[in-house]
Amino acid sequence: MEILVADSVIDIKDLTFKREGRKIFDDISFSIPKGKISVIMGPSGTGKTTMLHLMGGLIRPEEGTINILGSDVTKISRRDKFHLRKDMGFLFQSGALFSDMNVFDNIAFPLREHSGLPESIIKDIVVMKLEAVGLRGAMHLHPSELSGGMSRRVALARAIALDPKVLFYDEPFTGQDPISCGMLIKLMRSLNDLLHLTSVVVSHNVSHVMHIADHIFILSEGKLVESGSPEEITATREDRAQQFIHGLPDGPVPFHYPAGPLSEDLLSSNKDIARKRRKRVSDEKS
Ligand SMILES: Nc1ncnc2c1ncn2[C@@H]1O[C@H](COP(=O)(O)OP(=O)(O)O)[C@@H](O)[C@H]1O
Ligand SMILES: [Mg+2]
Repeated sequence: MEILVADSVIDIKDLTFKREGRKIFDDISFSIPKGKISVIMGPSGTGKTTMLHLMGGLIRPEEGTINILGSDVTKISRRDKFHLRKDMGFLFQSGALFSDMNVFDNIAFPLREHSGLPESIIKDIVVMKLEAVGLRGAMHLHPSELSGGMSRRVALARAIALDPKVLFYDEPFTGQDPISCGMLIKLMRSLNDLLHLTSVVVSHNVSHVMHIADHIFILSEGKLVESGSPEEITATREDRAQQFIHGLPDGPVPFHYPAGPLSEDLLSSNKDIARKRRKRVSDEKS
């Protein structure tokens, strides 16, 4: 399956990426449409976080190109990448706030580091970003005084501090209660549309994704198996996409990771198992 659209901000072409000799992505191509909220879905361990790291240029693929806002992040110099990163905002799962700084300083941090703007303007920007996420009143609080939902929103205000063109979210709903999930969905939509952003969300939470996505891509076993609007995805007839969307235990994705006979592993020592693993890696590399 190959999806390329005319008005796109990210174009991934023929992407292959391996970890320890195992193919995480096997010759994938797709494009992220401009101005929309795109969601990349798939079971845990499929490579969703890895895909965000590839798009951000944090890691390099074995093969293929990743074109973002006109630059191929797999080829550009460190300096160009540094500049390009200012156009990208990240809300990573581990996107913890600095615990020794209050909310205001957390959001001012990227501005003080990168913008070169005077403190009076930085103040106005911080106030506006906090207003956008509904937390202007919380600017003097410390991270330890915030609820989980508020922390996520402060992290979001920090991610948009430098006015990125593309905003990446890694599992934004994890660990949030239903009310803060609802708020987050509303906020992600309004930021995307009001700030004319392009949002890329990775998530395994099917029900939340159906509320937020303009476009959905489903990854499974190294391949892009389905893509479309939430309605199209719900009605999909592709087996692996169906299994994932409807949470079916049986389907083309097996419960068991491929393995030899159980008795063999029970009778062998830890050393044997380590040796086998090393052999598998070198076999796959050759
Ligand atoms: N730094 C790493 N070194 C080796 N393997 C990794 C590393 N990071 C992730 N992986 C492996 O790559 C696969 C994809 O991981 P990840 O992108 O975190 O999946 P997801 O975000 O979809 O749950 C998993 O099998 C994981 O174990
Ligand atoms: Mg992940």
